[in-house]
Amino acid sequence: MSGAKNSALKVFAASLLFRNPVQIKNTPLIEDIFRMKELLSAIGARISNSGNKTFSVEAPEIANTDLDKAITQSLRASVVLLGPMLARYGKVSMPHPGGCVIGKRPINFFIEGLKAMGAKVSEVNGRYYFSAKKLKGADFAFLTPSVTATETLMMAAVLAEGRVIIRNCACEPEIESLAKFLNDSGAKIKGAGTHTIIVDGLGASVWLTAASPFTVIPDRIEAGSLLILGALAAKKIKIKNCEPLHLLSLIAHLEAAGVKIERGADWLAVSKPRRLSALDVKTCEYPGFATDLQAPFTVFLTQAEGKSQVFETIFDGRLEYVNELVRLGANITPCDPHRVIILGPTVLSGRAVESPDLRSGLAFIIAGLIAKGETVVHNIYNIDRGYESIETKLAALGADIKRVQ
Ligand code: EPU
Repeated sequence: MSGAKNSALKVFAASLLFRNPVQIKNTPLIEDIFRMKELLSAIGARISNSGNKTFSVEAPEIANTDLDKAITQSLRASVVLLGPMLARYGKVSMPHPGGCVIGKRPINFFIEGLKAMGAKVSEVNGRYYFSAKKLKGADFAFLTPSVTATETLMMAAVLAEGRVIIRNCACEPEIESLAKFLNDSGAKIKGAGTHTIIVDGLGASVWLTAASPFTVIPDRIEAGSLLILGALAAKKIKIKNCEPLHLLSLIAHLEAAGVKIERGADWLAVSKPRRLSALDVKTCEYPGFATDLQAPFTVFLTQAEGKSQVFETIFDGRLEYVNELVRLGANITPCDPHRVIILGPTVLSGRAVESPDLRSGLAFIIAGLIAKGETVVHNIYNIDRGYESIETKLAALGADIKRVQ
């Protein structure tokens, strides 16, 4: 498996908190990482590629604190730069960050959290301006857990003066991994991976020192998607170099549908069972069912016998892709922006589809592989944003897939 996009992106951003270059190993070679590198270069960071998926990022002494508009708008993760930029350089400005079109993606938690730490925030002509001579201690609670806002406040707090308590945090493994690396480098963070994170700030001029390289954790969404594909179509596939403990919710759902999964410390093996049974799934914050696996799992449910419900609780526009699945032959009825009912099993038939976002893009590939006939997935930039050489990996599993211009 490749390294996790949503881990690597945050560590690239975190490198701005360091006095020495940060080495990042197992970096996925994907478009979002390339955009993050461009964004950091435009800020003034020096980035070198030592080959073998290892990059080194050195923060500039003086930074260009106005983030590039086009790049910032091309990925959501650009927003996490707010934390390290403000903590180290005292100011940063950016337009509203972009990313996948999966519903409203406001940045009010970032603004409120950074304000609680003493930042001044204004918006002029669609650009947000943040400044703070020093960030101070605070006790802040999110209205709802947010992954990138948790990471941003945690990184900002590392160089604050005093204690920052962040409540109702997201608990995703990528957050815990980031905190561990920051702590190994001198930060004082407790509780990452739980709903309350306490950071004892080091003060604005005490930057971190990377003692050893950071290794990006395995991509649980890539591994989970392949597990779903295996449950739909494989005689047997073994997914190596993954972290089964990060996939327990998906594993439980697949098992409840009748799929047999074997697992070891860092691998999973799966094969297509004779019969799949319908079941309901509700996306939740980690350790619940990941919203990023919702689209491939919906494809899975089109092959299960009976009536299933998919309830997307995190984003309000993350079921739009189902219209395309219906065009492929799926029997899916939207109930409201958050819920659809699926009746299965149905035979899917290949045709041309357009990938609206990264995760549903891969779901379309999975649908295409189990469909009769040929499926053409357009707009694969969206897939390349998050999956490294996906066609090579799938072809190695025996899939009939090729990239065309
Ligand atoms: N929210 C607000 N205000 C904010 C921030 C978030 O209301 O200021 C809301 C969102 O609208 C959403 C909820 O909070 O309803 C949770 O969203 P969250 O902030 O956790 O999402 P995110 O941090 O923008 C990250 C991942 C997503 C993943 C979600 C949920 C990155 C770069 N992105 O997004 O990944 O779906 O967490 O796990 O880490 C993907 O990789 O394809 C992807 C979309």
